[in-house]
Amino acid sequence: MSQPHTHNHERVRVRLGKRSYDIVIHPGGLKQLGQYLQDLGYAGKVGIITNSIVQSLYGRTVSQSLKRAGYQCHVICIPDGERAKTLRWVSHILDQLMAQRFERQSILVALGGGVIGDITGFVASVYLRGIPFVQVATTLVAQVDSSVGGKTGVNHPLGKNMIGAFYQPSLVLLDTQTLHTLPKREWIAGLAEVVKYGMIADRKFFAFLESRIDDLVKMEDTVLHHVVKRCCEIKASVVAKDERESGLRRILNYGHTIGHALESLGKYKTYIHGEAVGIGMVHEADLAHSLGLCSEQVVIRQRDLVRRAGLPSGLPKLNFRDLWGAMLHDKKVAHGRIHCVLPKAVGTVTVDPLDQKSVKSWFGQLEKSRA
Ligand SMILES: NC(=O)c1ccc[n+]([C@@H]2O[C@H](COP(=O)([O-])OP(=O)(O)OC[C@H]3O[C@@H](n4cnc5c(N)ncnc54)[C@H](O)[C@@H]3O)[C@@H](O)[C@H]2O)c1
Ligand SMILES: [Zn+2]
Repeated sequence: MSQPHTHNHERVRVRLGKRSYDIVIHPGGLKQLGQYLQDLGYAGKVGIITNSIVQSLYGRTVSQSLKRAGYQCHVICIPDGERAKTLRWVSHILDQLMAQRFERQSILVALGGGVIGDITGFVASVYLRGIPFVQVATTLVAQVDSSVGGKTGVNHPLGKNMIGAFYQPSLVLLDTQTLHTLPKREWIAGLAEVVKYGMIADRKFFAFLESRIDDLVKMEDTVLHHVVKRCCEIKASVVAKDERESGLRRILNYGHTIGHALESLGKYKTYIHGEAVGIGMVHEADLAHSLGLCSEQVVIRQRDLVRRAGLPSGLPKLNFRDLWGAMLHDKKVAHGRIHCVLPKAVGTVTVDPLDQKSVKSWFGQLEKSRA
């Protein structure tokens, strides 16, 4: 008999027909992972995919919860960070699953940030042509973005996220208490994606962020809970309408056209992802303003919020050719045309093709104002 859940949790449903699932936002919920798996009706072996950092912080809590619920579990650790998001580590995980005789009824648990979630989902999609997996996301980026929506995969030496699959989890468990151990830089970087949701979809949420950003930066519990939930609701609704990114889902790439360019120009060393997205959003809004798409007020409000979140907002020194070149390299570019998500107002965006001439002219103006 499983014990009843405590009631400080909330659910957001991701509606995808047969592939629908819940996102559970539950501070302290890590301790009840075993019960959540029982509720889903799973009885097989559990493979916990994690890294040594997260394992040392939360591994015991998770394993104990699973054992209490009667699961046999096996921990598979990969190295920390983006460098482990490769086919080599996919192969390592598959070797372990084979050796431990994981079956169709077995389950994988991704315990960690976006790297762990992306690689675990991919392994789950290919092992025995697909076994169920659960996202237990422990970074802000993972809780508001990567654990929801079913994009899984790994990097190729010639490009990030180039190998992967759409494969939805069976459950996403978000224990917001785990965020308290994040390095400050990782925490702040995740706030860029939070600001993004306000800009692309929800004017009221943006205003809420403006009024509570200081409490959010301090991780005040009720604000944090509300923010994670609202971001998940927005992402869930976008994904439900466009699971495979044939249209609407592209709005989630706001700030990422310039952001990805900055990451790659900095060889992925200067900025972590969220920082680049923060600068990207500030400048994509400025570009939208110069194209006559939005008012200056939009640019100013967003820049203020980005700065108050503690994110960088200034473009590093670079020349137009390099920036444009890097923007053209994005995976989202089709037929040499860059489609960029541009704000029309706070809470509303449009996806427009960019032409080199007008971006160059915007960049020239920016250079002048910086001189
Ligand atoms: N699938 C998607 O839709 C999607 C969306 C956005 C990003 N991503 C991917 O996500 C990855 C980035 O994710 P990320 O920002 O979570 O990075 P990450 O997974 O590398 O985690 C960041 C760091 O925090 C550590 N960590 C994790 N949880 C912790 C905790 N609770 N306390 C202390 N330390 C903790 C990790 O070990 C790591 O060192 C990228 O590979 C990106 O491509 C995927
Ligand atoms: Zn992002």
